[in-house]
Amino acid sequence: TGPETVSPTGASTGAPQLVNGQQGDFLTTSAGARLYDTDHSLKAGERGPTLLQDHHLREKITHFDHERIPERVVHARGYGAHGVFVGYGTAANVCMSAFLGDGVETPVFVRFSTVLGSRGSADTVRDTRGFATKFYTQQGNFDLVGNNIPVFFIQDGIKFPDVIHAGKPHPDREIPQAQSAHDTFWDFVSTHTEATHHVMWNMSDRGIPRSYRTMEGFGVHTFRLVNADGGTSLAKFHWKPKLGVHSLVWEEAQMISGFDPDFHRRDLADAIESGAYPQWELGLQVLPDTPRQTFDGIDLLDPTKIVPEELAPVQPVGILTLNRNPLNYFAETEQVAFHLGNLVPGIDVTDDPLLQARLFSYLDTQLSRLAGPNFNQIPINRPHAPVNDMLRDGFHQHAVHAGVAPYRPNSLDGGNPFEAGIEERPFVEVAQPLPKAVKIRQSPTSFADHFTQPRLFWLSLSPVEKEHLVQAFTFELGKCYEQTIKERELLVLANVDPTLCAEVAKGLGLPAPAATVRPKKVVPSPVLSQIGQTWPTD
Ligand code: HEM
Repeated sequence: TGPETVSPTGASTGAPQLVNGQQGDFLTTSAGARLYDTDHSLKAGERGPTLLQDHHLREKITHFDHERIPERVVHARGYGAHGVFVGYGTAANVCMSAFLGDGVETPVFVRFSTVLGSRGSADTVRDTRGFATKFYTQQGNFDLVGNNIPVFFIQDGIKFPDVIHAGKPHPDREIPQAQSAHDTFWDFVSTHTEATHHVMWNMSDRGIPRSYRTMEGFGVHTFRLVNADGGTSLAKFHWKPKLGVHSLVWEEAQMISGFDPDFHRRDLADAIESGAYPQWELGLQVLPDTPRQTFDGIDLLDPTKIVPEELAPVQPVGILTLNRNPLNYFAETEQVAFHLGNLVPGIDVTDDPLLQARLFSYLDTQLSRLAGPNFNQIPINRPHAPVNDMLRDGFHQHAVHAGVAPYRPNSLDGGNPFEAGIEERPFVEVAQPLPKAVKIRQSPTSFADHFTQPRLFWLSLSPVEKEHLVQAFTFELGKCYEQTIKERELLVLANVDPTLCAEVAKGLGLPAPAATVRPKKVVPSPVLSQIGQTWPTD
């Protein structure tokens, strides 16, 4: 069946919400006038000048001239697929979101991406991968905009432009970090030790996934869940691939980049086309919503920290199946717009300073990337729940709003259509204390430990995984021109683990420095002691 044509204002729950761009049996102008020749321009005589009056020529060229939109400032290279999410009903005691209900089916669109490369870059580079999911729920869109690495480089969103500027191609030569000098990236991370944990994951095999189908996904931040009684919990979102987690080795990744830069998108599209639908289980780590918002000494508002799964097991709450390739890359994958503020009743944000900045950034960037404030009317972004907002006009307005002026309360026209007063969400009593009336520009002291979790990550690796990580650090740091940057990063690694530092130093032909940060005083954690680990305390 061909794509369904839907009215721009009509909300539909049917599968493909697409405007059919190819109707009828013959070619037309964009105004619908039949074309008889699109191969020759109109000229004054066979060999004469082209006539300005050739509207078809001008429309065709003009439209072509404007085919490109700005690529995303980050995550520019991506690939998407449609699918369905089915809830298990197991989250009901902690979360009232209807889409998590037992057997509830929700259409989804997922976009996987690399972070730093441009739209035309290669798939198998060493980088973080985006894993963004739009759930078209009956309560409105819920966007889970995650990555394949459970932590982030920075603890405060105000540093995001800095870390991206350091990682993007050099301003003078526009040569990507991955192919040339690596100085700015390593300069940044060696001077921002909070980035160490994320960098450890990047340098591990997780930085070069075998396939999108074999990647985990993480919401990274701690979210707040609300149940039907108004009770709250804190939670972290996890996607677990049914195919397991698999990576490439570096030599494979490099060769594939040359032979087939589209390796990951081809793999996903081919798998779906052949009926080998990839699946992920959505899981939650549920944590008590205490006033301090910490768990076993971990500050849950710090996005550079994980909560080990041994301490808080991931509980499965539903399953995602990707089963349909997009019909048009631009219309769907390029124009999709995710936003952390797209939430449904039962899921709320916390005060993680990285998350708070993201709430601002996505809408802001999409205003320019998608040219104006009406991008939620683009078919791929359109909710499948009914829409009745008071937003009006603006560039690319597709909706035809009828009736009286949109304001409330409105005593004219029976108040129609602005009867929005019923608040479905119960009042949420948040355990955290009210913020003090001070303005302050600094991170909490509970964000200060930058080395314990990277060390835990290092210690969790098998011997071959450790070898890969050492090789990756050695290779990448070896690309820096500045010796001082290599030395500074070695000092960071010394504070993570002396063996790691010594191995990388050996590879670089430099002396291994001694640690400068005293390891944290540790106390046995009841759960970690069972697996022979300890956990720090303040
Ligand atoms: C995309 C900003 C942190 C995951 C983007 C985009 C911006 C942005 C501007 C492009 C969006 C668009 O053009 O539609 C930021 C800022 C951050 C931040 C300011 C920190 C303050 C993160 C974190 C994650 C993440 C921590 C993962 C948990 C993604 C993903 C995309 C994206 C997956 C691609 C979405 C897509 O496929 O369209 N980000 N980001 N970002 N970001 Fe972030």
